[in-house]
This record gives sequence, C-alpha cells and structure tokens, in this order.
Amino acid sequence: MTAKTIKDISNPDTYKGMYSFHKYWGKKPTESIAFFIQNYTNGSDIVLDPFLGSGLISRECLYRRRRFIGIDINPFAIEHTNFLLELPKASVFQSALQKIETKIKQKINETYFTDNGEIASHYLWSSAELLKVWMKPKVGRSRIEIETTSFDLEKVESFSQYSIRNIRKLTFFTNSRINSSNQMSIYDLFTRRALHNIDLIMDEIKLFPDAIQRALLLTLTSSSGQMSSMVFAITNRGKTKNQVSNKIEVGSWVIGYWRPQLHFEINVWNCFESRAKKLYKALIDISDYQYPRHESISALLESKQGALILNDDCINVMQKIPEKTIKLICTDPPHSDRIPYLELSEIWNSILNKNVSFEKEIIVSNAKERNKKKAEYIEKMKLFIGESSRILTDDGMFLIYFNARDQESWKFLEILENNSDLQFIGAFPMEYSANSVVQDNRKGGMKTDYVLVLKRKGCSISYKQELDKIPGWSTLVPQIASAT
Ligand SMILES: C[S@@+](CC[C@H](N)C(=O)[O-])C[C@H]1O[C@@H](n2cnc3c(N)ncnc32)[C@H](O)[C@@H]1O
Repeated sequence: MTAKTIKDISNPDTYKGMYSFHKYWGKKPTESIAFFIQNYTNGSDIVLDPFLGSGLISRECLYRRRRFIGIDINPFAIEHTNFLLELPKASVFQSALQKIETKIKQKINETYFTDNGEIASHYLWSSAELLKVWMKPKVGRSRIEIETTSFDLEKVESFSQYSIRNIRKLTFFTNSRINSSNQMSIYDLFTRRALHNIDLIMDEIKLFPDAIQRALLLTLTSSSGQMSSMVFAITNRGKTKNQVSNKIEVGSWVIGYWRPQLHFEINVWNCFESRAKKLYKALIDISDYQYPRHESISALLESKQGALILNDDCINVMQKIPEKTIKLICTDPPHSDRIPYLELSEIWNSILNKNVSFEKEIIVSNAKERNKKKAEYIEKMKLFIGESSRILTDDGMFLIYFNARDQESWKFLEILENNSDLQFIGAFPMEYSANSVVQDNRKGGMKTDYVLVLKRKGCSISYKQELDKIPGWSTLVPQIASAT
C-alpha cells in the first residue's frame, strides 16, 4: 500500500517490493491511484480500470476492500493481475524453486561448462562471433574473463539444431519504431542454448499447481529480457582520472527488439534464480486477505466484495455494465503511438502460451500491416469515454492518465464538449518513476503524464478546494504534448 498524501501524488517514489517484480510498458506509480481510491470511494464501491496493464491498481483495491473490475486485451496483463490477487505463500514459492533447482540447475550449468570444468556466467558476442567467456570467481567479486576456446565453440555448435518445444510461434510485425520485422523469429532473439535451457525450466514449471505455476512463469517472463541476445555490452563506461576505460560492462535490454552487435549471452539459470529470489523477498512481507473472485459482471454486482478480471476488449465489456454503477474509473489508456503494448509483449505472451487478439487493440501502430491508424484510435477512445460517462454513478469520479507525442492524439477529448455527460474538473502532471517502467528514452519519449479528473455534469460535489492542493493542479485541459 503506497503513500497517499496529496503532496506525494505528482512526484511518486520508485516501485518497491511486489510492484517492482515485473516490468510493464508504461507502468504507472500507485500514489495517485491509492489517494483517489482512499479518499473518493467507500466500503464496497466499485472501481473500474478498463486498461489494466500491470494491474497494480487491483492490489490497491484489495487492500481497501473495494470491489474491482479490471479489463485488458493483453493476456500478460491479466496473468500479472491474477498473480497480484492470488500471491503464493513465500514458503511454497521457495520450496518450488528448490525443487526446480535440485532437478535442473546442474543440467543447465553443464551447457555453460568451460574446458576446465568451470561454469560460464556470461558470453560476450560480436554478432555471430563468440569473443569472450566470463566466470564468477570462487572467492571475491571480480569476474574472470578468458578467451574463447574450441571447446566453447563446440558447445555452441551442439545446440545449432535445437528447436524450442514449450513456446508457441511468435507473431511479429514490421515496425521500425521497435526494430521488429515480420521475418523475425524467436531464434533471432535468443541463442539456441538459451532456448534449450528455457525449455528445461518450463518442463519443471508445468508440474506445479496453477497459482505457483503462474508465479514461476512470470519469474521466467520477467527474466526473459536478460536471457535474450538483446543485452547490450557497454563499452568505455566512465572516465577515471582522464583515462577512458576499455572495460566492458553488462547493459540491459532496451524497449523493443534491438539486437546490438556487441551483446551478451547470460547464463539462463542465473537470470531465473536472481528474479526468483527477488520475488521470494517481496513475498515474505505479504500476508494476504482472500479477495473473492467473480466470473461475470452480474456476480460482482450481486456480491459485496471481490474482483472481476477480464481479458477482452474493454468497450465490449463496458457496454454490458449497467448504467450508474461505477464509483471510480481510474485508467491509463494507450497513448496513441507511444507504446505498442501487444507487439512488445509477444515474448511474454508466447512463454505464457497465450494467444493475442491484435485486431482489438486500441493503438496507433507504426506497423503498416496492422492498419492501426489515428482516426480509428480517436473513434475508439471516444467510445470508451462515452461508455464511461454512462456507467459512472452520479457522484462518481473519472481519472484518465494521458499524454501524447502530438496534438492530434488528444482529439478524443472533443467528446467532452459535444455529447458527453462528463465535466472536466482539472488536471495535474505526474512524473514517471524510472524503476520497473520500461522507459521510452528515444527521441520524443516522455517522462510525464497528465491525470485528467472528470465528474458527471450536474454532480453537486465541488472537488476543487481539495484538489487545488495537488502540486501542478490546473483547471485547463492539457492539450499540448510535453516531450521532456
Ligand atoms: C498505458 S497501458 C496501462 C498501463 C497500466 N496503467 C500500468 O500501470 O501498468 C494501456 C493498456 O491498454 C491495453 N489495451 C489496449 N487496447 C485495449 C482494449 N481494446 N481493451 C482493453 N485493454 C486494451 C494494453 O494492453 C495496455 O496494457
């Protein structure tokens, strides 16, 4: 449960514990979400997020016992939200991890043996040429770097025909913004040795019951970036005493499918284990209340508590929600062409073995073959706002987190002037906190969102005096994209 004083909400902290375990594109800090749930809903009021993403809001509702409806077209988002609502016990997770370790750690490590029987932690590659092998020392911290031997090359060769067994075929589109091409396959993103080892881990994960299986699979998706060949090698980092260092350091993978010439292959077991330990640590601090789960809108409406989480097009679901039933709509819709969620989530969804409905995504994509253009995006956003105004209670509040790289993408707000029952109260800026967001650092990337606050026309409550205290609060609609 995060801080919720009015001053915290425009300048949130970094993510901690469970909220930092898995990255999500455009993940939003929870300070403002927590503040509004805490102060503008009561008892078993219903909160709705039609564009769930990582689903952190679901836990904020769970903590406060509000009823919650969450929707997302991305199956990954649903898995992650379900995970947050049904966390396994730390001890159960740890014992599952130990079982897996006993069965396959050695097998995986054998694939990284060097000719003197040591286990490699990293390989440095330049395109398809293996340059160096790194190992962890038995004592001390400094790594051992050795030249590649024929033994290492033969090891690589022994996997050259390997085909992945546990991951479905991936769908890619040609999109220069994220460096993907429709000719790409999983073999362009991972070494075959890495895929062999991922298969070994997945064979074991499948043997566990659902909740623990989900936690383990998300540990795998969470570490998949570090397991891939998209990990940059950083050269000439830092100048000490006017000398440029030639030392190479391990970088990270960057938003998209960039395959750097100089890159690392990291020991798959180490990647998996370090993520699993992070999750275990976060789980230790959690004692959970059992949040009842519902299968349909009517079941949630009849009950006084619990959550309904749906993998669907939100407009389709919202049309089925009776009018004036939702007290707070708090959501962060896709921001035009800022982040193509489904295209970026394809590795995660393939590991989770989930099929994806690309057609229903509300997005502007640079992938021409998807034909996702701005006009359709604006139309769909208007539909979403229209449905929101229909289902909001008379005293309800509606928060939209938004920013866009161009003026035109704000056009959906026209609906407020013409044919909606909603009234704009004001907006405030919210800085992104960097940890755990896959931050878009390219030209035109933004680090600020606006939170637009709306209520029903005719609602007699005046929120102005309270909301005036939010740093940066303004009663003007923020129309201009702020590329910071
Ligand atoms: C900006 S993200 C939400 C991020 C979220 N606030 C967080 O903290 O992680 C927007 C989400 O909208 C989802 N989305 C796109 N089209 C959708 C649709 N038609 N129905 C429901 N969700 C959709 C995307 O999958 C993505 O997860």
